[in-house]
Amino acid sequence: MINQLLEEAKQELINGHVKKRHPFRYFVLSTLENGKPKQRTVVLRKTLADSSLVFFTDERTPKVKAIENNAAFSALFYDAKKLLQIRVEGKAAIITDKEQIASYWHTVQQASKKDYTTNVAPGTPTNNPDNVDYNPDKNYFCPIKLVPNSIEYLRLKRPNHLRALFTKVDNDWSGQFLVP
Ligand SMILES: Cc1cc2nc3c(=O)[nH]c(=O)nc-3n(C[C@H](O)[C@H](O)[C@H](O)COP(=O)(O)O)c2cc1C
Repeated sequence: MINQLLEEAKQELINGHVKKRHPFRYFVLSTLENGKPKQRTVVLRKTLADSSLVFFTDERTPKVKAIENNAAFSALFYDAKKLLQIRVEGKAAIITDKEQIASYWHTVQQASKKDYTTNVAPGTPTNNPDNVDYNPDKNYFCPIKLVPNSIEYLRLKRPNHLRALFTKVDNDWSGQFLVP
């Protein structure tokens, strides 16, 4: 039964980017910035065969520097209808392979491409949010892969809640039920 929970968690992480309006499409990503926790919402763009999670960002954002300094991440997914929470932890890796970057860039909708082309870095103070300059000839697109080493499943339900922790050892997942 515990393996079913792992399969369910993995499948939901795939559904998060495959199915429209799936609650896992947006998740909260936590990293450490100068030793302090920092969270932000990001979009799940792809779930790979090994359950690695890919999201896109601008290479100038503080999260990129944070990941370069400390690759540890925690990612939180929540489905309010199912009362299902999945917590994924592991190491983040900035994708540097030019072909991979190009193939992910190809999947970005035309209208969204400009989000990665602001003249000044995201987070720079501005007096007028309606007056942001873009340079279509230069993008700062940066896909990032979150490689999991643990997946924690928690589903609140009656009569008994279900909680299990899965950890990856030598490419194999091993599971353990936890008291909810
Ligand atoms: C609904 C929603 C989706 C978002 N998706 C992304 C995303 O996919 N990638 C991203 O870099 N930022 C995304 N953001 C913005 C981040 O939450 C964050 O504000 C920004 O990336 C700066 O983060 P940082 O300063 O921690 O690097 C999203 C914000 C919201 C509200």
